[in-house]
Amino acid sequence: MNQPATKAQIAPTMDAPAYVTHARLKAWVAEVAKMTKPDRIVWCDGSQEEYDRLCNEMVAAGTLIRLNQEKRPGCFLARSDPDDVARMEDRTFVCSKNKDDAGPNNNWMAPEEMKATMSKLYDGCMRGRTMYVIPFSMGPLGSHIAHIGVELTDSAYVVASMRIMTRIGSKVLDILGADGEFVPCLHSVGMPLEAGQKDIPWPSSKEHKFITHFPEEKLIWSYGSGYGGNALLGKKCFALRIASIMAKEQGWLAEHMLILGIQPPNGKKHYIAAAFPSACGKTNLAMLVPPKALEGWKVTTIGEDIAWIKPGPDGRLYAINPESGAFGVAPGTSVDTNANCLAALHKNTIFTNVAMTDDGDVWWEGLSKEAPKHLIDWTGKSWTPDSGRLAAHPNSRFTVHASQIPCMDDDWENPAGVPISAFLFGGRRTTTVPLVTEAKDWKHGVYLAATMASETTAAIVGKVGVVRRDPFAMLPFCGYHFGDYFTHWLNVGSKVKQAPKIFAVNWFRRDSNGKFMWPGFGDNMRVLKWVVERCEGKSGATETPIGNMPRYEDMEWNGMSSFSREAFDELTHVDHDAWRAEVKDHEELFGKLQSRLPAEMTAQRQALEKAL
Ligand code: GTP
Ligand code: SPV
Ligand code: MN
Repeated sequence: MNQPATKAQIAPTMDAPAYVTHARLKAWVAEVAKMTKPDRIVWCDGSQEEYDRLCNEMVAAGTLIRLNQEKRPGCFLARSDPDDVARMEDRTFVCSKNKDDAGPNNNWMAPEEMKATMSKLYDGCMRGRTMYVIPFSMGPLGSHIAHIGVELTDSAYVVASMRIMTRIGSKVLDILGADGEFVPCLHSVGMPLEAGQKDIPWPSSKEHKFITHFPEEKLIWSYGSGYGGNALLGKKCFALRIASIMAKEQGWLAEHMLILGIQPPNGKKHYIAAAFPSACGKTNLAMLVPPKALEGWKVTTIGEDIAWIKPGPDGRLYAINPESGAFGVAPGTSVDTNANCLAALHKNTIFTNVAMTDDGDVWWEGLSKEAPKHLIDWTGKSWTPDSGRLAAHPNSRFTVHASQIPCMDDDWENPAGVPISAFLFGGRRTTTVPLVTEAKDWKHGVYLAATMASETTAAIVGKVGVVRRDPFAMLPFCGYHFGDYFTHWLNVGSKVKQAPKIFAVNWFRRDSNGKFMWPGFGDNMRVLKWVVERCEGKSGATETPIGNMPRYEDMEWNGMSSFSREAFDELTHVDHDAWRAEVKDHEELFGKLQSRLPAEMTAQRQALEKAL
């Protein structure tokens, strides 16, 4: 049993505290310490005192800035190194024994080779630093669907963030017991401090960055970056890449999806899971505020980034949110676009790379129509509206505990999960893809999801606005060959009872002037309403070559009189030439996956080609 936090466990020591009974865990921690050579090891208990102590230390070190405590009690600002601001897909690897298992959708290196390379980097990389041991649970503590990980990191920022994003501390060790299963996650910022060397606010490695996964061992090694998904290893590395592999092996799904509840005025509540690529609207949709005219409808949040979905005893699919917080995109978040989220950010929030006002508050593009007259930008420089540069980094984010989000669903921590009625798949598409399309059946739905594409965003280092195929919004996150992944989805659908309906959506189509054709945000409720009504067999649709679509009269227009029937027709128009070009792209994607592509995908493509 755990003792409460004592001096002994806070004090610098290389030994595990007496309450740690898990021999394999102790041996792994000792082995990593031998390699990375930290000055001290701290086993995180997950307490508020520990969090406060770490935050105070980070304020003293300049890593965190305490914000105006009247306006934002318990809130901090972190400014990262300007070269460490987002996920780096070209530095992310899946090191399966067999290269083909990782698929063309992953960077690959042989596991021994990667380990040899990284072991050299890890050798002494924590010199002068503390190594924190963070036991964490993805999913409610002790739930049969939850999985445990242990992250070793030399970043206090990671510890504080993990405490918000996951369930951490000694209570997790209690569940782990003496020999429970856990996913080992090793992280270092990759900047050892030589004797007497002064630390910097955001240490990271300039030369070497690696985010690597070893599927056979279910092991994660990350080096060189302290930012987001590169460093909070429970999130993309574990809950998506490694979990997607576990899910395939065990018959469930680990997906880049939000989960929302939707309660019609007098009807049955439904749950919808929706996949969108990074910075394409999951957080916004998960916390949607219905427009006035649809006030009777209520939307609640289960999760906003990741869903673990398992078949339940009744044969339906049940989803849980493995996380306990949101690491959300700040720019564009406002009272108009996401009032629920904004309300959550008033206290106990860590902001990273946003701008700071002269009175110690935060600001980002889109928070208010007019920018403040003066700010300190995300790089720490003085900023005015005519500076000609962004005040907040486009991938600046907030880290906030889910319990602070006012629209969380009563069941957000229900270990049994919530039954899913429909899956939505959406990308950022300026042209071609209509507002909403309903798949004819599960197999067609898998095809829609497998062939989706989206324009790249600032969530990834690289060029923004490039259209690329992003199957299931999982391109950066599927830990194995996409061909096998499509097969797995087809299999899941053939086994479940009452398979959820599948829809493709696009909030991002633009007119010839480059203006969004759809108001989006709260008005997306109108699409959700049609989706729910389709699930209940209550609303009509028209068949098109690419799937079923609502007619104008099938959607709710109350309170949106300015949106004309012509505008709707344009937004739902299927341009046959554009779609024939689209199908060519599908073919190209399938060509790359040929060796493991299920025949069903080719059959679907041929049927679509014929229909066009
Ligand atoms: P990750 O956390 O990176 O996985 O992303 P996310 O999918 O949760 O992204 P988020 O909800 O934070 O996306 C924010 C971006 O999507 C902002 O640029 C928003 O303006 C934009 N966005 C969200 N919903 C809509 C919408 O309905 N219409 C339009 N035009 N933009 C939207
Ligand atoms: C994403 O990029 O999809 C995110 C942010 O959710 S990060 O955790 O940095 O990957
Ligand atoms: Mn994400």
